[in-house]
Amino acid sequence: MARLSAPLDTTNLGCEARLLETGLRRLIVGQDEAIAQIVNGYQMFLTGMHAPGRPVGNFLFLGPTGSGKTRIVEATAEILVGCARAVVTIDCGEFQHSHEIAKLIGSPPGYLGHRETHPMLSQETLNQFTSEKLDLSFVLFDEIEKASDALWNLLLGILDKATLTLGDGRKVDFSKSLIFLTSNLGASNMSALTTRGLGFVSPDPGARLNEKIAQAGVEAARRKFTPEFINRLDKIVVFRSLGDAELRRILDIELGLVQERIFQSPSTKPFVFSVTAAAKDYLLREGTDVKYGARHLKRAIERTLVQPMSNLIASGQVQTGDWLRADFDSATTRMTFSLQAENVSPFAMAEAARTSPALSVAA
Ligand SMILES: Nc1ncnc2c1ncn2[C@@H]1O[C@H](COP(=O)(O)OP(=O)(O)OP(=O)(O)O)[C@@H](O)[C@H]1O
Ligand SMILES: [Mg+2]
Repeated sequence: MARLSAPLDTTNLGCEARLLETGLRRLIVGQDEAIAQIVNGYQMFLTGMHAPGRPVGNFLFLGPTGSGKTRIVEATAEILVGCARAVVTIDCGEFQHSHEIAKLIGSPPGYLGHRETHPMLSQETLNQFTSEKLDLSFVLFDEIEKASDALWNLLLGILDKATLTLGDGRKVDFSKSLIFLTSNLGASNMSALTTRGLGFVSPDPGARLNEKIAQAGVEAARRKFTPEFINRLDKIVVFRSLGDAELRRILDIELGLVQERIFQSPSTKPFVFSVTAAAKDYLLREGTDVKYGARHLKRAIERTLVQPMSNLIASGQVQTGDWLRADFDSATTRMTFSLQAENVSPFAMAEAARTSPALSVAA
């Protein structure tokens, strides 16, 4: 036996976890702590080092609306199993009354309607997107502060023992699940901290203020939730409010996703589009704000960009190899569209799409 004393590097990730990290960094802006937690959980799962008899990870995500709490979970599923819908989402607000719990776990045999109720949280639902290659599922409990006592009890069992007992006595196993819980709890305290004395959200609140905001979030969680719940969590992550620069990066990401959609749609002739700086400013004004973060950005993109583009496609005004340019006309306060080039080679289109998020034409 040779004795070695060289220190080892525990920050190195395996290849697969690194791919997840890179993917999340490409899709999620400004929430590095949450990315690190998910990647760590995944790494533990891959090496089989997560605690036995518990879910792979129990994460509570706090923070303002439209800051990426739900999006990061969907993005994780998208990257790992190729489908954002692979997340089993339970909207806790929908299960306030005990009879509604039957929707989740089914009713006991003998109850009226027993046969008709297919529990939402069955093993089949959980395993819907798992495969031999990746036997991992993603479960999201949204707005947990709205959960009824009955739901809390179920939740505590899942977080602690990775088990849920259905109405008919069958067990559901969550030991190969990443569990995400989200809440807007404390968001108002947190945003009060950001706006205090300023009257507006500073574009970059700075590391110390972010730390204070995170602390306020964690304290709010400790006040609201019981210790037995808090003790079952692996990590409480407080999402940051997004500043102007971050919202701009999110817009670029979303525009990149629209370009991807154009290339992937079987019924659309492939073309590329670019968006002028003025048009981007317009989309940001329409789709983002201090209160709702990036919550309405997608809707603004769909309404003012994608829908008109779909008309251009349907009426044959955009053809394969075209380069479409979207601009904003301040006189009519509308988006305008024009062709910037045609017969763009597939190679040039692929290149344009690759750099699409950064693509901005002078107004
Ligand atoms: N940090 C982020 N990175 C990338 N996209 C983001 C981010 N935050 C928000 N978005 C965009 O805004 C949309 C809404 O965000 P999301 O649904 O994740 O908000 P949320 O934090 O879950 O809010 P709520 O508390 O209201 O549920 C996302 O679909 C995504 O397009
Ligand atoms: Mg959400």
